[in-house]
Amino acid sequence: MIANSKNFVIRQASLNDMDFILELAEQEGWNPGLHDAASFFTADPHGFFIGELEGKKIGSISAVAYDEYFGFLGLYIVLPEYRGQGFGMQLWKRALAYLGERTVGLDGVVAQQENYKRSHFVLAYKNSRYQAPIHSFSTSSTLVDLTDVPFHILVEYDEAIFGFSRVAFLKSWISAPRAFCFAKIENEKLLGYGIIRPCVQGYKIGPLFADSPAIAEELYQTLSSKVSDGPLFLDVPEINTSAIHLVTKYAMKKVFETARMYRKLPPQQLLEKVYGVTTFELG
Ligand SMILES: CC(C)(COP(=O)(O)OP(=O)(O)OC[C@H]1O[C@@H](n2cnc3c(N)ncnc32)[C@H](O)[C@@H]1OP(=O)(O)O)[C@@H](O)C(=O)NCCC(=O)NCCS
Repeated sequence: MIANSKNFVIRQASLNDMDFILELAEQEGWNPGLHDAASFFTADPHGFFIGELEGKKIGSISAVAYDEYFGFLGLYIVLPEYRGQGFGMQLWKRALAYLGERTVGLDGVVAQQENYKRSHFVLAYKNSRYQAPIHSFSTSSTLVDLTDVPFHILVEYDEAIFGFSRVAFLKSWISAPRAFCFAKIENEKLLGYGIIRPCVQGYKIGPLFADSPAIAEELYQTLSSKVSDGPLFLDVPEINTSAIHLVTKYAMKKVFETARMYRKLPPQQLLEKVYGVTTFELG
């Protein structure tokens, strides 16, 4: 069935719409962070879209433009009872139109990968979500609170690994309610950092960026020791073998998988330093 475009309207989301969008993500079982809305929106206040049918919100998509060359799609969801009627495809086209000629990345669920291939996206690698019970570690950590690190140092370190500057997003992400963030500093040089935040279910660590497996492990232990209830989740690029060693060592179980796909050439990222993806929604 083709959607009746007269009654279906796609508009830019406001900050107030973000709760609806993240509720959709929760209903899909994607387990978003409890306070993700504000940080996500800050990443690109023009990059979130709502689909409304006769005034009722029925779907969403995000298209975060990091700079003039790169953007990331996520939160592509239509309420179950409205699927298969062409509304999703209209949201998709609107998001891609917003990102224009940019390289576009996404983390696609297994069921959608063939569709994305038809839309000229190519598989780059797999990301997997790992889960474990929270453990408390009695370690003598040499880490510092990330908020004590000069912000420009964090922005530069993050940009070198992620590939794009994300000043506004990081500022919001590290100061989100009930998030804990730690950094490894040696000789005034930042060598790794990680953030843990409360989610609908348990906690997620993301990002977990580190220059070495030992630093990643120290961050992992210290971050998980800050919280006590619920399972812990870490989203890992499968091609980083050191990250896979980490989740194996801590007996984390794989619970979910996505395909990182790109339209056009993949961006330059230091995946060997990515032990935890920031989020599947924003890249
Ligand atoms: C994915 C989703 C948003 C699509 O919404 P929808 O309204 O059902 O999609 P449409 O009705 O517009 O789809 C029309 C057709 O285009 C296809 N299509 C949808 N999105 C597409 C895309 N991005 N690229 C290519 N084809 C696409 C559909 O498979 C369908 O094909 P068919 O007619 O051969 O079956 C919806 O199924 C959904 O919410 N799924 C659960 C959440 C989810 O998994 N989102 C994707 C995360 S990566």
